Amino acid sequence: MHTGGYDIGVVPGDGIGPELVGSAQEVLTAAAGDGVEVRFHVEDAGADTYRRTGTACSDETFDRLRSYDGILKGPVGLPGVRRPDGTEGGLLGGLLRGGLDTYVNERPISLLPGVDGPLRGERRIDHVIVRENTEGLYLARGLGVGNERAVVDQLLMTREGVERVVRYAFELARRRPGAPADGVHRVTCVDKANVLRSFAFFRRIFDEIAEEYPDVQTDHRYADAAGHDLVVDPEHFDVLVMENFLGDILSDVAAATVGGLGMCPGGNIGDAHAYFEPIHGSAPAIAGRDLANPVSQILAAAMLADHLGERPVGDRIRAAVRTGFARGDIVILPSGSPKDGTDAVTRAVIGALES
Ligand code: IPM
Ligand code: MG
Repeated sequence: MHTGGYDIGVVPGDGIGPELVGSAQEVLTAAAGDGVEVRFHVEDAGADTYRRTGTACSDETFDRLRSYDGILKGPVGLPGVRRPDGTEGGLLGGLLRGGLDTYVNERPISLLPGVDGPLRGERRIDHVIVRENTEGLYLARGLGVGNERAVVDQLLMTREGVERVVRYAFELARRRPGAPADGVHRVTCVDKANVLRSFAFFRRIFDEIAEEYPDVQTDHRYADAAGHDLVVDPEHFDVLVMENFLGDILSDVAAATVGGLGMCPGGNIGDAHAYFEPIHGSAPAIAGRDLANPVSQILAAAMLADHLGERPVGDRIRAAVRTGFARGDIVILPSGSPKDGTDAVTRAVIGALES
């Protein structure tokens, strides 16, 4: 146990963010119990901040975020809050992912018992998408050049950037139980090496690093085929590693197979800093109406606990969420909203923690 406790930066975010983050804070506090002290420090960042102050995150806020033991972040973004070039104002991905050098975006995709996914039959879905988080196409965030007739955004890959994210994927595969279909520890490299030189480079480096991990099976998929197989044969996958933009798209595809974006947390993880958030947006249309599914944010808090070295706390949260679904206390409607509302999910998870 970490006797000094933890200082956690909290970015409630926009839209449904504050209610989700409130739910996750309550669950984390309850799961940590008396043994682990968690102190929350609320910080102002996101689209509403951009609208009020002209910047999504001030330098002072960023410096404080850097200083915490970990960060719990809600979704950000509001319709109509746009930069002059038409892209969203108030997004924090470029700023925090690049600024904190969180080069891994770890997105676990798990079908929980009792959750009605859209795929037919008894499915066992449990894999992790490892999305490169600091380069690739999204390095061009806010930097594209163009005029009224043409615009270009560039995709960049560096050897160091690819090596470190691929290594992370192999290390993760070593710790996991393997693919649901066959128990094989497997890392799938997802790319378009057949079309673009940058992806051929990604694959070549992947194959080099793979040689350091003879105990983990290596596997390749072109990104389009990966999208197909994530839907048709998700049991095959254990860990998948890919470029930033591909990971953004395919993690939403994979999320659909396990009951939707509201079920899926993500960790932005680097060697010195990490922050945890849902993989979805801020859904302003349903904000403040007790309609949002807080599971993604609660599971993000579990990942934060793991990251702090408090794995038992993370395990308790995940077990409580599973119990809530298995008991039928948590039911997500086809609309994506919990049957009895956001707060009822929080109560169900806390109730399951205590049982
Ligand atoms: C995600 C989100 C962000 C991204 C958006 C909101 C900028 O879609 O984390 O997947 O593209 O990275
Ligand atoms: Mg996304």
